[in-house]
Amino acid sequence: MGAPRTAPILVASNRGPVSYGLGEDGSLTAKRGGGGLVSGLSAIGSDSGAVWVCAALGEGDREAARRAGTSHLNPGDTGGQQVRMLDIAPDVFAAAYNGIANSVLWFIHHLLYQTPVEPVFDAEFAEQWAAYETYNAAFADALAQEAVAEAVVLVQDYHLALVPAMLRERRPDLRIGHFSHTPWAPPDYYRLLPDQVAADVLRGILGGDRAAFLTERWATAFADCCAAVLGAEIVRDGDGDGGEEGSGAATAVRFEGRETRLGVHGLGADAGFLRERSRQADVDERLTSLRAQIGPGRKSIVRVDRTELSKNIVRGLLAYRRLLETRPEWRERVVHVAFAYPSRQDLAVYRDYTERVRRIAEEINAEYGTEGWTPVALHVKDDFARSLAAYRLADVALVNPIRDGMNLVAKEVPVVSERGCALVLSREAGAYAELGEDALVVNPYDVEATAQALHEALRMSDGERADRTKRLAAAATALPPQAWFLAQLEAL
Ligand code: F6P
Repeated sequence: MGAPRTAPILVASNRGPVSYGLGEDGSLTAKRGGGGLVSGLSAIGSDSGAVWVCAALGEGDREAARRAGTSHLNPGDTGGQQVRMLDIAPDVFAAAYNGIANSVLWFIHHLLYQTPVEPVFDAEFAEQWAAYETYNAAFADALAQEAVAEAVVLVQDYHLALVPAMLRERRPDLRIGHFSHTPWAPPDYYRLLPDQVAADVLRGILGGDRAAFLTERWATAFADCCAAVLGAEIVRDGDGDGGEEGSGAATAVRFEGRETRLGVHGLGADAGFLRERSRQADVDERLTSLRAQIGPGRKSIVRVDRTELSKNIVRGLLAYRRLLETRPEWRERVVHVAFAYPSRQDLAVYRDYTERVRRIAEEINAEYGTEGWTPVALHVKDDFARSLAAYRLADVALVNPIRDGMNLVAKEVPVVSERGCALVLSREAGAYAELGEDALVVNPYDVEATAQALHEALRMSDGERADRTKRLAAAATALPPQAWFLAQLEAL
């Protein structure tokens, strides 16, 4: 017995808008998630009949999913949103999520491999890939069950790359879009993947009517991979009826008799929410303690990240160390406030990276710290209110990812900043496309140049900082989550 077909709009993502803790007595505690998708979906209202399909991630989620069966979760837990949580077998989920999504596809799109020794695609990989197919099929089955005729389905991210094609097979009547929140790898790097897998991922996304990205650059890379791996035809802006080839941006991919349109929607910051939330009492409290930690008269360089290999926290710390070494005038006069929140701690490489971040911060503090001054204030416990407090007081924000789909911190800081904040920004972040003009732009691998950019950012006059921040905030809020979500729906 499946769920009735009731949904005119469906969203599918690995991580859903709610997660559950499981008490020893078997009780479930729901915790609602934030993020662009949650606030985007709220634009259509909870009475729209939209359904969100997601995976159970931990034991609490699994228990909640089992109790709901093929029904939706208790709407009291989800703010009224209809959510179907899939109870996928733990070993299949782990192989698909940790093995393929986070250890292979994430690494490919963020260019994270140390290629002399990795990746190695062996028998274990083949098993994980089979699990990834099973996990994607579970989503396709649930979506096919829930969708009314001709419903619109928005499939999110690299976890679910195979879903569009699988769903089209099951339900050719649906309008299907895929959205990539990550960068997309250039063809030479993408082709590290085994040939069949490289082709299957592209075919999976091309099963949809539309494939959308956060920036033009990632959309172009996707089109380039389709051409290089599948021999697909790329339609470009300016392609004429007379058969002449356009030279503009890629607008669609033609493959095996179908056309998948390409789209770009640069998710922006939610100004209303951020400004209101960042003025609440818990943020004020944290502001006071952060100010005390930094010390009177000192400047702050703030970074807020998940401890994610692509965020480049280690080189950020090395650049700060270099700043203290080469510009002794900043010693005792600046504090690097670094929030490195836990992420994907099931993976050893993430745990090792977190350790390395800690070690380098300690080394800097041991090398340069004095009785009244701790050069790096590292916080590793996730605290949204404290992040907002840091946004408010930051003189400089350091956002230096190796590669990032967008990077919302770069967009949130200028919105929340009280007195203006200079932004040191990697040219490899998606946000660079919109914020590059008013940021101090760095090559994320270049520690010397990053140290120099930090120096310039610290020296920037109050007036210039405030002016740049105003312009950054305007660019950062051009497409807030609700408009971002509606634009995707409309385009389908
Ligand atoms: O930030 C990019 C992103 O792909 C988001 O779209 C997605 O929510 C997240 O990464 C996945 O992270 P996690 O493994 O913690 O769910």
